[in-house]
Amino acid sequence: MHPDVQKIMLSEEEIKDRVQGLGKQISEEYQGEEILVIGILKGAMIFLADLVRNISIPTYFDFMAVSSYGAGTESSGAVRILKDLDKSIEGRHVIIVEDIVDTGLTLKYLTENLQARNPASLKICTLLDKPERRTVNVNVNYVGFSVPNEFVVGFGLDFNERYRNLPYIAVLKPEIYE
Ligand code: PRP
Repeated sequence: MHPDVQKIMLSEEEIKDRVQGLGKQISEEYQGEEILVIGILKGAMIFLADLVRNISIPTYFDFMAVSSYGAGTESSGAVRILKDLDKSIEGRHVIIVEDIVDTGLTLKYLTENLQARNPASLKICTLLDKPERRTVNVNVNYVGFSVPNEFVVGFGLDFNERYRNLPYIAVLKPEIYE
């Protein structure tokens, strides 16, 4: 275990099993279709890489980067597009892939923004959901794990850009935040 980690919330094995399940479910529900997964950088990259390798239908990728948190642990509420999609999504079956839904502000903005580009369908898949933190209503279609309101890192999630490469989801020791 990494020396800065207080406890592991979700192990590599638990994540692997759940991501396999999500991939299977998506493959079944979109049977006969092609999907476009939109990864929201940077947090979603690890989850997305594992998820798509568990999807058996034709799958295309694109990416967006948006800002919400800044450098701290609290959501500012402001959402800004740092990198937009490369191509049109008109008529495509789109799945937004996120690492975490916290306040919901990022996804509320993204769903409204992407819906306006006329996809055939638009769904959301997130590895983690923190329902206690929600301030706006978003309809999340695929959730890996619902987690309590603790600040977590690893598997793509960062604290000040660190710890994204931990292969599990963990809570840091309190002194790391101080
Ligand atoms: C995180 C996460 C979501 C957003 C969720 O991204 O990946 O995009 O915050 O929070 P919300 O529901 O309160 O809007 P972050 O801005 O930390 O960027 P990152 O993915 O590059 O770490």
